[in-house]
Amino acid sequence: MQHSGKNIVLGVTGSIAAYKAVELLRLLKSDGHDVHVIQTPSSARFVGEATFSALSGHAVAVDAFAGESAAGISHIELARSDLMIIAPATANTIGKMAAGIADNLLLTSYLAMDGPVFVAPAMNQYMWHHVAVQENIATLERRGVHNIRPKTGNLACGEFGDGRMEEPEQILVRVRELLTANQPADLEGVDILVTAGATRELIDAVRFITNRSSGRMGFALAKAARDRGASVTVIAANCALEHHPGIRYIDVQTSAELQEVLEQKFDKCNVLLMSAAVADYKVSTTTATGKLERKSEIHLRLVPTSDIVSNLKGNGNGRLKVGFAAEFGADKIERARRKLEEKNLGMIVFNDVSRADIGFESEENEITILMPDGNDEFVEKATKLECAHRILDKVRESVRQ
Ligand code: CTP
Repeated sequence: MQHSGKNIVLGVTGSIAAYKAVELLRLLKSDGHDVHVIQTPSSARFVGEATFSALSGHAVAVDAFAGESAAGISHIELARSDLMIIAPATANTIGKMAAGIADNLLLTSYLAMDGPVFVAPAMNQYMWHHVAVQENIATLERRGVHNIRPKTGNLACGEFGDGRMEEPEQILVRVRELLTANQPADLEGVDILVTAGATRELIDAVRFITNRSSGRMGFALAKAARDRGASVTVIAANCALEHHPGIRYIDVQTSAELQEVLEQKFDKCNVLLMSAAVADYKVSTTTATGKLERKSEIHLRLVPTSDIVSNLKGNGNGRLKVGFAAEFGADKIERARRKLEEKNLGMIVFNDVSRADIGFESEENEITILMPDGNDEFVEKATKLECAHRILDKVRESVRQ
């Protein structure tokens, strides 16, 4: 983990989704945080104090009027925590937060809190869409509260719609993002070019050959670099991902288009993060304007695409080229290391794509950053944003030399 353990208040309010707060608590603890749970009185009807106190290692705070609460810690001390997460957050609690009402320990702690606050609403879909709730949540967002929007799905009341609390794993992703976002601006003045996604090699006007890369790693790199003050351009090959303000995006489709844009931009950058999964083959006889008809058999002739990153003259000329190698099989790490040399890269990021829990289409990755001098770094399974920061730590060391 890049961040050190934080002091976190987990507020649990009276919703059936309170059982998910148990899992969230477990995840936060295993991420190295010290967690104090505050329950509203009605939440104890869903999950008892004993569960939260056993898992958190602290007595659970409930009563606002005990002076020093039962947990031996006042609302002011609780509010000096680094972070507060209210999950699940009911319409009632959201409304009181917006109105500044403080009639229980969680709400008094919230008002005294000066660190970041997350709410993960959970309620019936009609309640969620009620104008009062929407106005209250908008008020909280305007004041800087991080709203982890509820999802669409089966609701505890038997209906289907919006209002289902986000899953604990996803709440953890948001918390980790916030903790890693507060980075020093140590890449200010550095121009970073990121390629992301999977190229498409056209067979005809409607069909193409591609691969499973979603672009998440490249987008995480771009966001992390931007948060650290770099000037960032992303060349995005078919990525259906959220764009961030302050980052320039150029969309491309094929490996030839990616190569063309990259060749124009490369000279002006300091660092190229080549995370795009470029197709190795393209169809030699693309029917670009039509659609192939169905026949008993067709033969496609595939020819290699050019090795884009190898052909860019850079590394050592004040420009750092970082490659990415997603490898399978027994000698995977050696193959990645060979690419470091053959493609004339300043470093290469290896990940094992034989594992289903990391890499393609996943929010997480486990990587090894291979360096020419053997000063490699292994990053244990972490979110792609955290992996991105570790890669950028190495990039920063290299550009400073
Ligand atoms: N790459 C590239 N152009 C290609 C293929 C790959 O620039 N035509 C880049 C990738 O973006 C990545 C690095 O080279 O940064 C390694 O990609 P990989 O697909 O592992 O390399 P290949 O040379 O295609 O090797 P393999 O035969 O194992 O696919």
